[in-house]
Amino acid sequence: MRITTTVDGTSYTDDVEPRMLLVQYLREKLGKVGTVVGCDTSNCGACTVHMDGQSVKSCSVLAVQADGREITTIEGLSADGQLHPVQQAFHDSHALQCGFCTPGMIMQAVDLLKENPDPDEEEIRAGLEGNLCRCTGYQNIVRAVRAAADKMQPSAAPEAETSREPVGASMPSEVAQS
Ligand code: FES
Ligand code: FES
Repeated sequence: MRITTTVDGTSYTDDVEPRMLLVQYLREKLGKVGTVVGCDTSNCGACTVHMDGQSVKSCSVLAVQADGREITTIEGLSADGQLHPVQQAFHDSHALQCGFCTPGMIMQAVDLLKENPDPDEEEIRAGLEGNLCRCTGYQNIVRAVRAAADKMQPSAAPEAETSREPVGASMPSEVAQS
């Protein structure tokens, strides 16, 4: 079947098998290997991307279902060479260890903050419950999402810009202990 879809701002037209999964299409046809497969059974969330602005587990969506849709992967999240605030917050809060869950976790967090720009800890944990992490214990992930929410508040933007630590700045001590 022939599909046309926009992925990370670029339009693609391809012939695909009707049974091909969206995650296979992204990785194998388009080389978007930032989107990863952790389980292939809709459990882990590592394959999360946005379809028309909403997060979906791309191992649970057929490529043909993306026909005419707009897909954003982790590789299309940054703009003008700048990390998305959620990406930056994950870096600053040391919210990853092996990093395997991170692309999906970030995509889900971006969707969460779009739906609820000012979530408390309980709401963040509920919003990310479909994304599993084997390494971090989640604490720093929750902290990162909350930090991103603060930076993304319209009134906080100028202050966030001036207070942002440069890449490679020393890590808070409580982060290093997690
Ligand atoms: S690979 Fe899609 S949910 Fe795990
Ligand atoms: S950082 Fe390793 S699975 Fe989350």
